[in-house]
Amino acid sequence: MKVVRSVAQARAERAALPAPVGFVPTMGALHAGHASLVDRARSECASVVVSLYVNPLQFAPGEDFARYPRTFERDAALLESGGVDLLFAPSDDELVGADAQTAVEVGAVAARLEGERRPGHFRGVATIVHKLFNIVAPQRAYFGQKDAQQLAVVQRMTADMDVPVDIVACPIVRDVDGVALSSRNAYLSAEERRDAVRLSRVLRMIADGLGAGRRDIDALIRESLPTLLPLRNDYVAVVDPRAFEPLDFAPAGVDLLVVGAAYCGATRLIDNVPAHTA
Ligand code: PAF
Repeated sequence: MKVVRSVAQARAERAALPAPVGFVPTMGALHAGHASLVDRARSECASVVVSLYVNPLQFAPGEDFARYPRTFERDAALLESGGVDLLFAPSDDELVGADAQTAVEVGAVAARLEGERRPGHFRGVATIVHKLFNIVAPQRAYFGQKDAQQLAVVQRMTADMDVPVDIVACPIVRDVDGVALSSRNAYLSAEERRDAVRLSRVLRMIADGLGAGRRDIDALIRESLPTLLPLRNDYVAVVDPRAFEPLDFAPAGVDLLVVGAAYCGATRLIDNVPAHTA
């Protein structure tokens, strides 16, 4: 595995890789969820490129940019053993220069839920992902469904900007108790980690209700929310997985996504569960 720090080196090394090139963008602090993206890319592509960059543009003021876990040596070893060809780990000022004046603005799909709670987050994600696509020029890019709204934003952005890359959505990897793997789980105490299971449980209850024929989404969410305790609800909603606009009525026979964010102690967790309405 080659490790490069500059955009120029990344382009030069990328040019020598056989196509199709599969790309997995990450912010490091890698876990089995990331490993599943790398494995999928490895199985479908001739070459695999991973980026590791804690993107300052996607953290709102007051969020955890400074203390976001940085575990480079461990991450690099995991990627090397996963058969990655090229690791692009730009230095802090290599990708986001102080003189930058251009950003990618995404519309309605980025406006609600995470977009509402984290001002500027999806603008920062879309901007950095667009830049990474320009540098790495992959044929396929792999994103986890855990960040479902991010996935919808990236799909919209690539379609709208005619970026020639196939976006591959990969299933959430969960611990045995059902908690979705996340780099932010590292912030949880042992007790908080036990409580964290409540988030996936409440989303699953709502998905089951929709599968059993419930149409009244507001009432269904209201009845299910006590299961979230002692976690503190930020939002729970049911959306179309491409639009990310909360629905209050579930039509019959459609695929929806139950999405939620909750505070477990001071740590904000997100998760989602697919639902097929009866
Ligand atoms: O999902 C992430 O880790 C990040 O949002 C991404 C896609 C690497 C962009 O910084």
